[in-house]
Amino acid sequence: MATSIRQSMSSSEPVPITDVEIEEAERVKTGIGGLDSLFGGGLVHGSVLLLGGEPGIGKSTLSLELASKLANQGKKILYVSGEESLVQVKMRAERISALSDNILLMAETNLDMIVNAIKKIDPYLVIVDSIQTVFLPELQSSPGSVGQVRECAGSLSFLAKDRGITLIIIGHVTKEGTIGGPKTLEHLVDVVLYFEGQRFDDFRVLRAVKNRFGPTNELAIFQMSSMGLLEVPNPSEFFLSQYSPDQPGVCIGAIIEGTRPFLVEVQALVSPTSGFGAPLRRSQGIDPNRLPMLLAVLEKRLGYRLYEYDVFVNVMGGIKIKDPGLDLAVVLSIISSLRSQPIPEGIVAIGEVGLIGDVRSVTMMEQRIKEAKRTGFKRIIAPEKGSLDLSGIISEIW
Ligand SMILES: Nc1ncnc2c1ncn2[C@@H]1O[C@H](COP(=O)(O)OP(=O)(O)OP(=O)(O)O)[C@@H](O)[C@H]1O
Ligand SMILES: [Mg+2]
Repeated sequence: MATSIRQSMSSSEPVPITDVEIEEAERVKTGIGGLDSLFGGGLVHGSVLLLGGEPGIGKSTLSLELASKLANQGKKILYVSGEESLVQVKMRAERISALSDNILLMAETNLDMIVNAIKKIDPYLVIVDSIQTVFLPELQSSPGSVGQVRECAGSLSFLAKDRGITLIIIGHVTKEGTIGGPKTLEHLVDVVLYFEGQRFDDFRVLRAVKNRFGPTNELAIFQMSSMGLLEVPNPSEFFLSQYSPDQPGVCIGAIIEGTRPFLVEVQALVSPTSGFGAPLRRSQGIDPNRLPMLLAVLEKRLGYRLYEYDVFVNVMGGIKIKDPGLDLAVVLSIISSLRSQPIPEGIVAIGEVGLIGDVRSVTMMEQRIKEAKRTGFKRIIAPEKGSLDLSGIISEIW
């Protein structure tokens, strides 16, 4: 079926922009709630997606679940497995109840064979698991090299766009975040989804880092179980599931990811530095450049002698946060640990810390406050408009 995406790809004659007809893109609800909102209200027919993440995080599981949801709606799926045997894929499908006659499996890595199969079957959705295993025989380089990955992904996308087929390209991302793989494909595809964090616990954070048909930076949270990935309907509750308010160094912040507010727990540990060199500054989940800046503000503007201490900051739940609205929670968790005094229960801190020791209001403040109240937090420390003085906030808490 023709869609707006397909038509817009095939215009070789220039036309006045005003003459271009806009057809509402056809969206399919997958029925996996978090995923549908990640897409911006359903999977757009004919779109090309890149699904990346560290090995073992759940890329194949999620794609198979999505395949089965669409197969149950009568759509034909072609699942190309370059990594696992047909038996392995079937065993996973059995485990997560994703068996369907509409899912056709193929264990193949030769691009020419894959293209032939797509042309012959003309499926609604093609899943290529993974792009690092696929190769074009004409190219000298080995599968997984930048040249192969780009060339194969390019040909597959072109074919998919030309035929109006939805395509999911799975790609491995290493800890360093790059290799000659997924990152080089981001410009080529419509939607980029990455699993964030590592697979040390059951929780999986999936982020839309690019979306031509919906909001970016939207998150979906899943829990990995033997039956597959289960949606976590209340992310704030999930991020706070281990929250212990009586511990020093713990502060709750409210962030915006995509269009949604979440509450997150920030933990800090400030301990006297043991070595002779520079004190340690380590963080997980926040921009690593932000921590030294916040510490400098505390030292220079508020007179804390932090150069005598190692400072560690973690955002719980494996989520990576760029939102400056978390600054205040980071700073308060550090001071709480330094003073060995917990922050009184029921406080949520929101605000960006400036270089002059002020705390500024951030975007979507109303939604953040609403989420904090919904989750049961009574006291919100945040400049609703303009700014507050950081030292004033600290002396108000302790
Ligand atoms: N029997 C099982 N019960 C519960 N969870 C399981 C079971 N088997 C696998 N898993 C979960 O599934 C995860 C692997 O998922 P999946 O194979 O979809 O990941 P992937 O990202 O495709 O990995 P790869 O990089 O190996 O292709 C494991 O880390 C584990 O958490
Ligand atoms: Mg896999």
